[in-house]
Amino acid sequence: MGPRLREDDSGETLVLLESHVTLRDGEKVLIRPLKLEDAALYPDFLAEVTADDLRLRFFAPMREVSYDLIDKLIHYDPKYAMAFIAIAEASGRMLGVVRLHDDPGGDGGEFAILVRSQLKGHGLGWLMMKHMIAYAQEKGLQTVHGQVLAENTTMLQMCTELGFYVTDDPGERGVKVVTLPLHELPALAAH
Ligand SMILES: CC(C)(COP(=O)(O)OP(=O)(O)OC[C@H]1O[C@@H](n2cnc3c(N)ncnc32)[C@H](O)[C@@H]1OP(=O)(O)O)[C@@H](O)C(=O)NCCC(=O)NCCS
Repeated sequence: MGPRLREDDSGETLVLLESHVTLRDGEKVLIRPLKLEDAALYPDFLAEVTADDLRLRFFAPMREVSYDLIDKLIHYDPKYAMAFIAIAEASGRMLGVVRLHDDPGGDGGEFAILVRSQLKGHGLGWLMMKHMIAYAQEKGLQTVHGQVLAENTTMLQMCTELGFYVTDDPGERGVKVVTLPLHELPALAAH
């Protein structure tokens, strides 16, 4: 079943209900909106994300993610942004995160995704992308798009398989823009 949205107490914010998924290796994973308390899970998660994967995500070499950046990632404004965290149901560990920020004044959203490095290739990135896309569809966005380094062939291939088209970023050399027109897609079940 695809995700369903509901209004929060103020009647304004879209909230995606949680999804339970199973990875290729049988691991059971909960995907749910990121909460403030999840800040506590970030250090363990980031400790197991390689410097190379951090660079693929943030486009800049960084040895570690600063407290300030974690704070910023956690404190997103749900009116204009959403983030989903993936948690291993058995251990409670954070396995990945995908976020979607509305374009200012537009009807699209920009995503970014990061999966625990040791877990790459188990199917989680794909499931989180589908979760994010289904959310964007339900929210009524026209497109989702993201910036991907040209060397990031895994991500570019995954996006192509998901139906994104790939273009050069006119503003940044070595960067591709992946765009998925949502109105051309049938309503997606999240998984
Ligand atoms: C890019 C990234 C998110 C991918 O996540 P992942 O969990 O390793 O990806 P998955 O295992 O779901 O998918 C990868 C592969 O399976 C394919 N795949 C996965 N599930 C699939 C499914 N159900 N059906 C068809 N294809 C599937 C993908 O196309 C890809 O193929 P490959 O393994 O043959 O190369 C992860 O590597 C990462 O965090 N990288 C660092 C950060 C980054 O690059 N972010 C992107 C820029 S924002």
